[in-house]
Amino acid sequence: MKKTNIFLSFIAIATFVVALAGCTKPKDGAEGAAGKDANETCKLCHNANVVEAASTQYELSKHSWGEAAFAEAGNTGCGPCHESEAFKYVCANNTPSTFTLSTTTNKWTNDYASVSTAAYGEISCFTCHSSLHSTYGSADLPALTTVAPVSMTFFAGAKTINLTQDGGISNLCVKCHQPRPFTASGQNGRILNYDSLKNFPTDVFFDTTLTTNRLKPGYRTHTHYGTIGAIYAGVGFAGIEFPGTLSYTNSKHTTETSCQDCHMATVSGAAGGHTFKAEGNLNGCNVTDCHGAGTVTTSATDPYLGAVKTEIKGLLGQLAAKLQQGGREIMNRNADATTNLWYGHTTNNYDGYLNIYDPINNPTGSTTSFKANSTSGFSAAQIAFNNTLPKLMLTNAQFGSIINFQMCLREYSLGIHNYKYTKALLTNSIAILP
Ligand code: HEC
Ligand code: HEC
Ligand code: HEC
Ligand code: HEC
Ligand code: HEC
Repeated sequence: MKKTNIFLSFIAIATFVVALAGCTKPKDGAEGAAGKDANETCKLCHNANVVEAASTQYELSKHSWGEAAFAEAGNTGCGPCHESEAFKYVCANNTPSTFTLSTTTNKWTNDYASVSTAAYGEISCFTCHSSLHSTYGSADLPALTTVAPVSMTFFAGAKTINLTQDGGISNLCVKCHQPRPFTASGQNGRILNYDSLKNFPTDVFFDTTLTTNRLKPGYRTHTHYGTIGAIYAGVGFAGIEFPGTLSYTNSKHTTETSCQDCHMATVSGAAGGHTFKAEGNLNGCNVTDCHGAGTVTTSATDPYLGAVKTEIKGLLGQLAAKLQQGGREIMNRNADATTNLWYGHTTNNYDGYLNIYDPINNPTGSTTSFKANSTSGFSAAQIAFNNTLPKLMLTNAQFGSIINFQMCLREYSLGIHNYKYTKALLTNSIAILP
């Protein structure tokens, strides 16, 4: 479904390559018989339809205006997905997403990191387009930094996502838009064995009275924000696949479409193209042969869009309602539309964090929340207050369902990315909880 690239037809006329760094005409005018000069090759890209159009659209993209690249600058572990130079570093060095055991500390550390000399840079044209300005010629633009299969950090490299449609372009997106791993932070830092959550659902996962806890849940115990890649790849790649009435299958999107079909579709309003936004732009949906004879509409009951979102929103609400202990909810609510990136995605405005007291990150949920499992950094008054709160206890089924809730809320599209799989994950999680 790849669009014809208008730009490529421009390129065909350009054979003149200038290896210089300035838009001046070659000095030796006598040799310029072909009548082409540096300005002309520059104009292949530097014109209203190509670079200028993409740059203007890009201003609307959160890649451009988001603050994360500044906030996480200098951090080598966050860099591979947040900082341009770090992303290019892990691509160029094929940095593995494995964990390694340190013989001195006896702890496992995540290998998926850049080096500190490359831990900076805002996401820009040069992040995704690897060859810009390498020849200043026609071949510079189509090349992307990576389309290689993506070794998943969530599984410490044990699983690899490979979305081959449209030349694997989606792999570029998934390299960053993938969930982050849960580790046994209470023990040796090794990646959690997710299968044990599925295979022994009634076993205790966490109990403050035990010394064997693999992980001590806190407010920020989460899959991170980029779960889309995993949900999109679907069966075997995301979540805890509890057995249940629904079998795990993928929607057609997994194999028939690529991220840019919907996120870089022909511009409509403030979406499409290099805004990377899908919201409100149905140009990507209404492509011939995609949804039968029907046309996808913005109607709340549209079978391909509105109805799917309503159903998944309902299932998220049902799962959150079951995730409770002693009448207290385990999932956190946040009714602030500016800080909750999933505001409106559930009726109660869950944000995927846990309802655990944290004077810095979760001070307002305090009276209805659970006791924090670590009080380091708390004042004496905060510790005293923390001690009045009930302790959280979790079974494997509950912790697995928390992961599934986070995966399905934080894929952002309320099921559009992979409806069948999202529905099965949520439905079977709801059924397994008492
Ligand atoms: C294959 C496409 C392409 C060609 C050919 C090209 N550029 Fe660029 N250039 C870009 C892109 C993309 C950007 C980034 C635009 C942005 O950040 O909005 C850019 C940015 C620039 C900048 C801004 C500084 C920077 O590095 O971000 C300068 C200066 C520049 N180009 C000069 C030139 C000159 C001079 C030529 C011809 C010798 C040329 N470019 C040819 C694609 C191209
Ligand atoms: C280098 C890593 C990286 C790559 C590659 C990447 N993204 Fe992103 N993307 C991010 C980050 C990080 C953010 C959030 C930026 C922030 O908050 O500052 C983001 C934000 C977005 C958003 C806005 C999300 C929101 O909450 O509004 C969309 C949509 C998006 N990306 C789609 C894509 C698509 C489609 C591709 C592939 C063509 C892609 N991204 C490639 C890292 C990446
Ligand atoms: C495997 C890739 C990956 C890694 C590693 C990663 N992030 Fe992210 N992060 C993302 C993506 C993708 C998004 C944007 C998701 C979206 O909005 O759709 C994001 C979003 C965020 C946001 C939300 C930004 C906002 O707009 O509110 C914060 C904060 C953040 N990350 C912090 C961190 C920190 C801190 C680290 C390191 C400890 C880190 N991230 C490591 C992929 C990653
Ligand atoms: C998050 C990754 C990403 C970033 C950032 C990005 N691009 Fe692209 N760009 C793509 C992808 C993917 C394609 C489609 C490639 C294909 O279809 O072969 C593309 C295609 C293009 C094209 C070809 C024409 C078109 O629209 O199909 C141009 C021109 C272009 N990009 C310019 C830019 C400029 C200028 C910037 C910076 C302002 C930029 N890109 C930033 C991913 C990115
Ligand atoms: C079939 C169309 C389709 C495909 C394919 C698709 N998306 Fe989406 N995506 C959507 C829709 C629809 C939304 C929800 C937009 C809204 O908020 O209404 C969305 C939301 C998102 C968001 C949150 C952005 C926001 O503004 O809320 C990100 C990030 C994202 N998708 C990334 C991706 C990535 C990465 C891929 C490829 C692995 C992908 N998408 C493939 C349709 C699609």
